[in-house]
Amino acid sequence: MVTVAVDYKNLQTFCKTVLEKSLPKDEAKNIAISLVDADLLGIHSHGVSRLTDYLVRMEDGLIERETKFTLENESHTTALYDAHNGWGQIVSKAAMENAIDKALNYGTGFVGVKNSNHFGTATYYTRMAAEKGCIGIAMTNGSAIMVPFGSREPSLGTNPLSIAIPAGEGKDPIILDMATSNVARGKIILANKNNESIPEGWAITKDGKQTTDAKEALEGFILPMGPKGSGLAIIIDILSGVLTGSLFGKDIPKMYGDPEPQQLGHFFGAINIESFIGKEDFYKNIDKKVKETVESKPSEGFDRVYMPGEIEMNRKRRREKEGVPLSQDIFNELEATGKKYGVEITDYLQVAAK
Ligand SMILES: NC(=O)c1ccc[n+]([C@@H]2O[C@H](COP(=O)([O-])OP(=O)(O)OC[C@H]3O[C@@H](n4cnc5c(N)ncnc54)[C@H](O)[C@@H]3O)[C@@H](O)[C@H]2O)c1
Repeated sequence: MVTVAVDYKNLQTFCKTVLEKSLPKDEAKNIAISLVDADLLGIHSHGVSRLTDYLVRMEDGLIERETKFTLENESHTTALYDAHNGWGQIVSKAAMENAIDKALNYGTGFVGVKNSNHFGTATYYTRMAAEKGCIGIAMTNGSAIMVPFGSREPSLGTNPLSIAIPAGEGKDPIILDMATSNVARGKIILANKNNESIPEGWAITKDGKQTTDAKEALEGFILPMGPKGSGLAIIIDILSGVLTGSLFGKDIPKMYGDPEPQQLGHFFGAINIESFIGKEDFYKNIDKKVKETVESKPSEGFDRVYMPGEIEMNRKRRREKEGVPLSQDIFNELEATGKKYGVEITDYLQVAAK
């Protein structure tokens, strides 16, 4: 597969400029930053490859151009926002900022969001908390493209969960960020866009048979990460959808294909470490935990053991210097989307073949 390497700041500026043709400037900027962040981490399924899809939904009237969220309910430690069908990235950033404020002032903050749209990667929000010295939690529901364990009838999204734990000054947080499927559906969308096959175990056809064909998989259903992934996805649907008064399960319209707003729910949490123990003690023991993990003896076939998030954060640092790889297909798609909005991609991106 041909890939091109692009400077991440220029990629942000290109996305921002395209989005600014329809959205308020600060909202365009925040969405561009969060999309490119996913590509820097190597989560291409949730990066700039989604820009065109989001804009198509917006043009179809399924996502509002401006995100005019409202605060529906609030206590010292909880809040509920209504996104009124705005952009998931915008309301989620505000919701996490509020959760962090509550954690810093009152120990913990839990904030729900209803009537929202796809928010990108969950890690984007949990790292916001870790940067402020808090533990961050983020999750969302999604349309029913995944079957519960043992079923061939979908009633779950690939509902992701991220938890980020600060590790001390100048150190990367520990970040778990996972879909509850075997893989995020975005990886199948990307494989389909790039004309690649997928491994067995990722999805079943609409008739319930195993498949390695990305297109067939997209017409069929995603498999959960076993019974535990299925259980987690159900809990995430309840916290994000049922608890917030948003849609959940089978009722959520599909992101690709259904001509209705998705009305997704998200759930965010922040925990102030100092409400439990002193930061110095916490970081000292986090060091110990990291050490015992990464220094444990690798088993056959492994070079070493990694902390969750370590591979992605190392990749991010490397790509900030060396550029973000984009497949030629995604580059072409961005170029066409740019043209549609009067933005010439080559004015922003100097392309080096990889
Ligand atoms: N918005 C949505 O609706 C939605 C839905 C599903 C997934 N997502 C996003 O998709 C992204 C991809 O999810 P995924 O489940 O495919 O991720 P993944 O399988 O690549 O990684 C999952 C977790 O495992 C860790 N990990 C991976 N390899 C490791 C190793 N060798 N050692 C130690 N830890 C390791 C990663 O750091 C990460 O925390 C996430 O950012 C998620 O938030 C979003």
